[in-house]
Amino acid sequence: IRVGVLFGGMSVEHEVSVISGLQAYHAIPRDKYEPVPIYITKEGKWYTGEAVGSIDEYKDLPGLLRKSTNVTLFTNESGAHQLIATRKSWFKNPVVDEIHVAFPVTHGTFGEDGALQGLLEFQKVPYVGCDVLSSALGMDKVVMKAVVRSAGLPVVDFVTFYNHQWSEDPGSCIAKAEAQLKYPVIVKPANLGSSVGIEIAEDTEELTSALGNAFGFADKVIIERVVQNLKEVNCSVIGDHESAEVSVCEEVLKTSEILSYQDKYLNQASKGMSGTSRIIPANISPEMTEEVQALAKQTFLELGCNGVSRIDFLIDQDEGKVYVNEINTIPGSLAFYLWEPKGKSFEQMTGQLIQLALK
Ligand code: DAL
Ligand code: MG
Repeated sequence: IRVGVLFGGMSVEHEVSVISGLQAYHAIPRDKYEPVPIYITKEGKWYTGEAVGSIDEYKDLPGLLRKSTNVTLFTNESGAHQLIATRKSWFKNPVVDEIHVAFPVTHGTFGEDGALQGLLEFQKVPYVGCDVLSSALGMDKVVMKAVVRSAGLPVVDFVTFYNHQWSEDPGSCIAKAEAQLKYPVIVKPANLGSSVGIEIAEDTEELTSALGNAFGFADKVIIERVVQNLKEVNCSVIGDHESAEVSVCEEVLKTSEILSYQDKYLNQASKGMSGTSRIIPANISPEMTEEVQALAKQTFLELGCNGVSRIDFLIDQDEGKVYVNEINTIPGSLAFYLWEPKGKSFEQMTGQLIQLALK
């Protein structure tokens, strides 16, 4: 069974996705599957070949692309999913490779939001992870919170605006936010990952500037109450509606007020993925751990997820209350480090994910 591992892509999380994608590519058990690396450039072109599977090649991207084959995905009448070289004539059909299942490890816009999943549906290619709807729900912090809240799960108070509302009448946006939330508030683009465009605002002036900044990244922005005495805890779920299981919890340590893109990835990419500031298992009570795990599983099920997700929580240590904050339906490193303590190796995980896709 050939598994097309897709990574990179047209998102601000491109580099992170290359790391996660190659980790997954190398973890796929070779006795059962034949992984095919497929790198998606920032422009959205697909490349395959041996070089694409090697992290060192990414230091010289033009060189890497020269050594690789630019391909397109095509499903023929007999249902074969073929990677076809685009530069040679389409009519000669130079099939570079055939895949049986796709394994998207593409964080963020176009890769984690249902767009790539829609393309794979259209081509009838079975794929690992969430379907179009659950991917889209998970990527939008506003819709995700609305769905989760309607299922009775706890989320922090929030207000949301579209860019057109902000540009037409910033004054009434500020007034609405200030009427519903107390400072400090946290301003986030509604549909980006990896903490891009996120700022905390303490007053009207800061809120105005934070909104201006966030709208530079996205068309929709969410403003939330800041949890003051905060502990951030994450938990992963793997499976589907029949088989969902929960991982251990991790506690995320922050070096600045907001865990920035810099903290999350740039530091960590240079240190290797293990050099992150996280505590595993999280330093919370067994009762709190159980609560987080139960909420993680409920969130996964309410959103109709499949594959492996990581659900991020905010714990208000003053209230002793847990809030569902967001879901990553394609988490960094596929959250393998939360499964290893449970005795599930990265190799077993990728095998399980492929099985789920073929179920
Ligand atoms: N969106 C990134 C990869 C994460 O939070 O895991
Ligand atoms: Mg994310």
